[in-house]
Amino acid sequence: MTTDIKLREIIAAQEEIFVRRQPRSKRLAEQAKNHLAGGVTSSWQITAPQPVWLSHGRGSKVWDVDGNEYVDLHGGYGAALAGHAHPAIAKAITSQAGLGTHFAQPTPDAIAVAEELAGRFGLPRWRFANSGTEATMDAVHLMRSITGRDLIIKIEGCYHGHHDSVQVSVAPDPDVAGPRNKPNSAPASTGIPRAITDLTLIATFNDLDSVARLLDEHKDQVAGMIIEPVMMNAGIIEPEPGYLEALKALLHDHHALLTFDEVKTGLTVGPGGVTQRENVQPDLITLAKSLGGGVAVAAIGGTADVMNHVATGGYEMVGTFNGNPLAMAATRAMLTEVVTPEAYEKIEKLRQRAASGIQKAIQDNGLTAHLVTAGAKGCVVFSAEPVRNYRGFLGVDDRYSHAHWLYQHNGGVFLPPWGKIEQWLISVQHDEADIDRLVENFAVFARAVGPDAARTDATRTGD
Ligand SMILES: Cc1ncc(COP(=O)(O)O)c(C=O)c1O
Repeated sequence: MTTDIKLREIIAAQEEIFVRRQPRSKRLAEQAKNHLAGGVTSSWQITAPQPVWLSHGRGSKVWDVDGNEYVDLHGGYGAALAGHAHPAIAKAITSQAGLGTHFAQPTPDAIAVAEELAGRFGLPRWRFANSGTEATMDAVHLMRSITGRDLIIKIEGCYHGHHDSVQVSVAPDPDVAGPRNKPNSAPASTGIPRAITDLTLIATFNDLDSVARLLDEHKDQVAGMIIEPVMMNAGIIEPEPGYLEALKALLHDHHALLTFDEVKTGLTVGPGGVTQRENVQPDLITLAKSLGGGVAVAAIGGTADVMNHVATGGYEMVGTFNGNPLAMAATRAMLTEVVTPEAYEKIEKLRQRAASGIQKAIQDNGLTAHLVTAGAKGCVVFSAEPVRNYRGFLGVDDRYSHAHWLYQHNGGVFLPPWGKIEQWLISVQHDEADIDRLVENFAVFARAVGPDAARTDATRTGD
């Protein structure tokens, strides 16, 4: 790969182009600071060199306030599987808006959505919420409520939202992460009481022994475990064959429950998530992000036993906006009209097109990188070796991810910021030309940062 100095120069040059292309965004970013904390609506929108302010989206594209068009593979952090302004979603929202947007009473769409989810994910009973955070919070409460135990196990490097119990060891710095074979419970944010952090035990992905050890050390005290069945907040890390099945058996041997957090994977890896793909049924599933076709909604699915606990009042799963009619109408349209078998076939063809183009550019330019894809999701991981868990992920070079993000952005492709952590999302409205733009930009980037570029540079310096 290129030299550190050259990489710094490349990033600086690309950031300059980025800012130059977006003068109005720059002005809005300044103005916003007056009354929006940090000048944004969520802290993850604070990205270098400056936040991008958007005006609108249609199909596979979004436009910034300066009029620049982008192929949108950011997908609103993985939520825009339907693309933008999808006719079926727009129609569902418009007609429900004319009939009232909120009652806090169930509407028939909720039954249709629950039936669809049961068919896809194999769990019979469902409830709804408004964000992934709410869904995983309910799942953790439910595991504790059913078992009468306080401790939970979570995987180092998994993100499950911003409630206290899961804001632990999300992306811990090496100096607080603890020993590799016995990770610490490290608070992922300020404002989380130590007493709550201590109730969350940390295991290593793809390492059954790390879970077995915690279950033995804390005999009869662990309520359950929450896991992203494919890790998607550390690039993409796949479970090794048999891992999820064995995890379920191990937890059940200890009368503990298993939650698959499919907020990110959900409909994006396939019609019934990782649950269907791997044919392993957990006790609980959480969904959000792409579920509502771009409208805020979340779902919690459970086995008959687990959800009977809710049905009989053992745990009160509540929320004013749960099952909101607007969200249910959009979700019903998403499930019945948008993420159809044909849509998945199309996405699979585009996934293959992106994969072969990018792999070729990696090889042609001798990059120390590899590609990982899972359904509509994909990312380039800047390390030679495949990554098995969070400790491996720590070795990935995020300077290259940032440089790649800038090249794509300046070349008219909007990938999610935080490129080392995030993935692209191909929507049902993308086409081959969109993917070709991604691949072309990647090839330009690869030529700029590959070892040949470094050699050229060294020769020039020698001159
Ligand atoms: C796997 C996973 N779970 C839960 C969440 C939280 O979802 P939300 O941001 O909707 O609260 C996220 C968000 O990125 C996530 O990636």
